[in-house]
Amino acid sequence: MSTLAEFIQGLPKAELHLHIEGSLEPELMFELGRRNAIALPFKTVEEVRAAYAFSNLQDFLDIYYQGAGVLLTAADFHDLAMAYFRRVAADGCRHVELFFDPQTHTDRGIAFSVVMDGLLAAMAEAERTLGITSALILCFLRHLDEAAASATLKAAEPYLDRIAGVGLDSSEVGHPPLKFARVFAAARAKGLKLVAHAGEEGPPEYVWEALDILDVDRIDHGNRALEDPALVKRLVREGKTLTVCPLSNLKLCVVGDLKDHPLRTMLDLGLRATINSDDPAYFGGYLGQNWLQTAQALSLTRAELVTLARNSFTGSFLPPDAVARHLAAIDAYVSRFPPVGEMSPKPQAGDNGGSVRQES
Ligand code: HPA
Ligand code: ZN
Repeated sequence: MSTLAEFIQGLPKAELHLHIEGSLEPELMFELGRRNAIALPFKTVEEVRAAYAFSNLQDFLDIYYQGAGVLLTAADFHDLAMAYFRRVAADGCRHVELFFDPQTHTDRGIAFSVVMDGLLAAMAEAERTLGITSALILCFLRHLDEAAASATLKAAEPYLDRIAGVGLDSSEVGHPPLKFARVFAAARAKGLKLVAHAGEEGPPEYVWEALDILDVDRIDHGNRALEDPALVKRLVREGKTLTVCPLSNLKLCVVGDLKDHPLRTMLDLGLRATINSDDPAYFGGYLGQNWLQTAQALSLTRAELVTLARNSFTGSFLPPDAVARHLAAIDAYVSRFPPVGEMSPKPQAGDNGGSVRQES
């Protein structure tokens, strides 16, 4: 492993933008299809992966909702989440705030309690066996109406002590945050944290609405906020966390090349950006690959990587004492890491990471 890859792997970090249904690998999709006697429109894992060529968000969503159809029982949700936790533990992830889409399941006749029982069991197991803490964010599907979102919030009532917040995902353009003003206000009144996907494909106005109308605690993606200097100023002033997803942006054609990804610009502007995987089974990389490929493409410095790791905890919904513990762990890690000069993240021929070890 290159020094850069090693440094990233060991750096304590959190994932704040992960759709658990988007961690369904084709192999598990087939296994659950067999277990539940659900026929898939694909014959092989290779065929599934070949279908993951997207030109926009909707292309992806169509196949993502279809894939989620193999999830029927609490055991399925448990196995899905445990596979993700095991994978991300290997990437040095210490805490995850995971999205789930209950409407994708309740609309197929799966009880809300089935989804919750499976996910909560996996979360407890991940903490016990892998040392990863986690929190749940219930996402409303924005292509459905607000009444459906309100019914989902009502179904969540018995579980509100185990749900950290609500979010807004699915098809962005044509479904502005304004459409969900009342259900977000109701969620806030119940003490839930609020986040919303905004500015992934939608215009800066959607980010303004997420702030002004929904009063969100974080913005998921937020790329297009950079088109509006007044909006950037507002996000910086309020220290609003952006949960940025580089490989997702590449796969969904939000950016044409990782070298053109706005993450470095976001940091330069003083935005509190974080790196996340979004839907890793579909976008070609879990948390560690998002970090490594972005660091290489943008030549991120060690100081910038440390800032990103710190942002992932300061932007989390963890209590202040837990945030402080993680920040101290980052400091301890950085001071222990071999005293190299600035790492050169540019890949060299025959090297998957690259490093320049100056004197020690
Ligand atoms: N954007 C919007 N909705 C989603 C996504 C995404 O990247 N992944 C799963 N639901
Ligand atoms: Zn997302």
